[in-house]
Amino acid sequence: MTRPHILILHGPNLNLLGRREPEHYGDMDLAAIDAMLRDLASELGVAVESFQSNHEGALIDRIHAAQEAGVGGIVINPAAFTHTSIALRDALLGVEIPFVEVHLSNVYRREAFRHRSYLADAAVGVIAGFGAESYALALRALTQYIQREG
Ligand code: DQA
Repeated sequence: MTRPHILILHGPNLNLLGRREPEHYGDMDLAAIDAMLRDLASELGVAVESFQSNHEGALIDRIHAAQEAGVGGIVINPAAFTHTSIALRDALLGVEIPFVEVHLSNVYRREAFRHRSYLADAAVGVIAGFGAESYALALRALTQYIQREG
């Protein structure tokens, strides 16, 4: 059996992690988070690929390409697009790839506009508030989900 392939998507401003509002997002930068996820993936026996963009259309194109490539699951931190993007929701629903929504911060302890997600009800699950560990928890949970469902 080929190893399941999981795509990690990071939305806008996450390229600034490490120096951006560390009180909310911690001090780990994106490269370190991606390296941590690659290590975890080899432990779990899955392949991961990461992609970050500040542009909604680029994220949507990457989601479409994931379907072509036979990606089995997506871990996505849509960042601010969580609260605004019907287009991202439609892309994820359109490709029918199971996904987990991730947030470093606990968005429900923050401003009211962050409490709304256009993606959450279509996700397999949502993990928020554990800093970089949110991504690791999501990768573990999605791997188990794919192994169970696939
Ligand atoms: C975030 C939470 C969003 O509300 C915010 O716009 C982000 C990051 C998080 O990881 O906690 O950019 O998705």
